[in-house]
Amino acid sequence: MQTVSDPQSLREQVQAWQKNGLTVALVPTMGNLHAGHLSLIDRAREAADRVVVSVFVNPLQFGPNEDFDDYPRTLTDDERQCRQQGADLLFAPGVAVMYPGYRHGQPYLATRLQADPRLAQTFEGADRPGHFDGVVTVVAKLFHLVQPDVAVFGQKDLQQYAVLEKMVTDLAMPVRLIRTPIVRETDGLALSSRNQYLNSAERALAPSLAQTLQSVCVRIQDAPAKSASILQQASQDLQALGFQVHYFSLVALPTLQAVIDPQMPCRDDGSEFAVVVAATLGQTRLLDNRILRLS
Ligand code: PAF
Repeated sequence: MQTVSDPQSLREQVQAWQKNGLTVALVPTMGNLHAGHLSLIDRAREAADRVVVSVFVNPLQFGPNEDFDDYPRTLTDDERQCRQQGADLLFAPGVAVMYPGYRHGQPYLATRLQADPRLAQTFEGADRPGHFDGVVTVVAKLFHLVQPDVAVFGQKDLQQYAVLEKMVTDLAMPVRLIRTPIVRETDGLALSSRNQYLNSAERALAPSLAQTLQSVCVRIQDAPAKSASILQQASQDLQALGFQVHYFSLVALPTLQAVIDPQMPCRDDGSEFAVVVAATLGQTRLLDNRILRLS
C-alpha cells in the first residue's frame, strides 16, 4: 500500500486503475482509525476493486470551541492498519492541499458548499452550527480529487450520511454511497475516536447510552403510539445517571424529520425510521442511533 499526500500522485494511481477497468472505493476518515473504520474498509473492498482511504482532520467542520487542536493524529498507526486491512492507497493531504488559500494567516478555502439546511440545522447541526457545511465541502473536494465510483460511510454518523446522500443527489455527483452498520464494544458502546476522552468513571457509565437506546427501540417497536412518552422517560433516566441529553428522537429516513405520530408517519421514500440520541458525559459528546422498521 502506498501513502500519497499530493493530488497528482493520487490521480495518476487512480487513473491507472480506472484505465484498466477497475472500480475504486473511497473511505473518507479523519484518521485515528479503530475497528469501526476497519469495517468501512472491509465493505469498500467488497464494493470495488481498489480501496483508497483518506485521512484529513478537517478544520472546517469543527466549531471554535471544539476539539480540532486535540483531535488525535496518528498517521503512522493509521497507515499500518490500512495496510493490514487491505487498502490499496492512503491519501493523507496536508492542509495546504485541501485549503490552498490564506486568510488572517490561516489556511482557507474560499469556495464552499452549503449542506441542505433542512437536514443540517437540526440535531447535531443545531448544536454545531456550520458543521455539516464543513463536512459536505471537504467530502465534495475529496470526491473531486479521488473520483471514486463508491464511497463508504458509517451509520454511526447517521445525520452526516443523510446530508451527504442529499448532496450527491442534489449535485448529481457520479458516486454511489454505502452506509455500514455501527461497530460496538462488547458492552454496547458505539466505537468513536472521541471515546478515548472519557475518564474511567465516564467509560464505565457510557454503555448506558447504548443500553437505553436499545430498550427504547424495543419498546417503540411494541408500542409506536407511545414513542413520545418512551423517549421522554428515557431522556430523564439518562439525565439521572449524569448524561446531559441533547436529543433523543424518533425520525423518518432519509429526511430526518421527527416523527410526531408514528401511527401516521411521514414515510418519505421508504419505511425506514431511526431513533437518534446525543448526550454529553463529562466533556465528551456521545452519539448513537438504531434503525427501526415500523409496520
Ligand atoms: O466522518 C468523518 O470522519 C468525517 O466527518 C469525514 C466524513 C471524513 C469528513 O471530514
